[in-house]
Amino acid sequence: MIALQQALWSGRFESGMDDSTLEFTSSLSVDSKLAFYDVMGSLAHVRMLKACGIIPAEDADAITSGLKVILGEVKDGSFALDYSLEDIHTNVEFVLTSRIGPAGGKLHTGRSRNDQVALDFRMYLRDEALAAAEAMDGLMMALVKVAEDNGDTVMPGFTHMQHAQPVSLAQHMLAHAFRFSRDADRFLDAFRRMDKCPLGAAALAGTTYPIDRRMTAESLGFKEPTENSMDTVSDRDFVNELAFCAAQAAIHLSSLCEELVLWSSQEFGFVEMDDRYTTGSSIMPQKKNPDIAELVRGKTGSAVGALVTMLVMTKGLPLTYNRDLQEDKAPVMDSMASVRSCARMMSKVVSTSRFDKVRMAEVTSRGQINATDLADYLVTKGVPFREAHGIVGAAVRHSIESGRNLEDMTLEELRGFSDRIDEDVFEMLPVKRCMERRDSYGGTSPGSTDMQISQAMEQIMSRDETIRQERQLIGNCWKSLSE
Ligand code: ARG
Repeated sequence: MIALQQALWSGRFESGMDDSTLEFTSSLSVDSKLAFYDVMGSLAHVRMLKACGIIPAEDADAITSGLKVILGEVKDGSFALDYSLEDIHTNVEFVLTSRIGPAGGKLHTGRSRNDQVALDFRMYLRDEALAAAEAMDGLMMALVKVAEDNGDTVMPGFTHMQHAQPVSLAQHMLAHAFRFSRDADRFLDAFRRMDKCPLGAAALAGTTYPIDRRMTAESLGFKEPTENSMDTVSDRDFVNELAFCAAQAAIHLSSLCEELVLWSSQEFGFVEMDDRYTTGSSIMPQKKNPDIAELVRGKTGSAVGALVTMLVMTKGLPLTYNRDLQEDKAPVMDSMASVRSCARMMSKVVSTSRFDKVRMAEVTSRGQINATDLADYLVTKGVPFREAHGIVGAAVRHSIESGRNLEDMTLEELRGFSDRIDEDVFEMLPVKRCMERRDSYGGTSPGSTDMQISQAMEQIMSRDETIRQERQLIGNCWKSLSE
């Protein structure tokens, strides 16, 4: 049985909690990760209580000093957790009060664990969102670097996993890069939407004390306080949104990984990953396995799982706080940490991989990947595209049957399909030319990929500046509260 006086709410109970109740309801193993934010939130709260004259200055000062000592312990890892206390909020308040005496009991004036936990988790996820955006940009940068060196590296572009049209490796890498750019943007968008401070919503209805919510919001680096107290303590859409951002980023990562796994197979032979980021087999000495890419692909399962967990868990909850909400932390803490480490690992894998340009070019030239270009050629000679499609289809059939590429047929053979074909057709058919000529906006030509590289770099730089500014603002708040 747990000693009754240790619970923050013991007054109306005759007996303490059964051990099994404590074990079942405790969130400490998860919310201990919020310790830093919990103490910062309390420092801002007590500063406001003092400024508004809600508690005596000397009590506020004692609380502040006590909290600063706890903060130091949290930072150096020496803050001892007491598992007979149900969560991190109780732990901090209990230790504070046991050290400074009854003044510690005044910290919770005008506040509830309901707004406290909403605040702590927001501040935690605010940092996570910035870190995730930064990690996405790191990976994007690695992809852009590969693109910079490969504007003229020709490779097959696929649809339905069939050779479709020639593209450059730059175009392919940039396709992934812009996906990660949107992921990074999504994390920052979510950040902006959660930039409102829950503190002062109290249990659900606000408080009778003359608190100053703008002051606490500002002390903690939020743009403004949340608008409605009931919404504040009951909703977790900011958690759900980040869970989606993480799941979507994981899906993008998984797609990149799937390709790298395929490309590093003997059948493709497009890429060789660096020894430092591959593993071997315990039985087959020749093996070099793309385990990192496979693990990243595998971790997508838990990232999507975290989103589904959150959506189902929050579905149909009545206003306002319900204990179900305690289940919000573990899945999203995990998926945010996982997506960040996946992006970091993949940026190392990408930037150290060796792409086999010769193999890619050779594979692209095999077959009829330039068939669209032959049709486009006929269009320039006045043949309607639909008719040209049929003519080239017949030429492709002949090419397959005779085991030769389109560009390896003689002019006479080609003219057998259309008398509009002339000698200049052979300028159009080399696969590299096909790639270079697709210079429409966003297309695969070197001019277009150069422009995309500039666009990608601008996006990275602008987010980098935003992340730096936000971190500075938050860092200044921590400094001011803890000094
Ligand atoms: N551990 C709780 C959570 O994570 C803290 C809030 C508890 N509030 C309450 N009314 N029991 O949600």
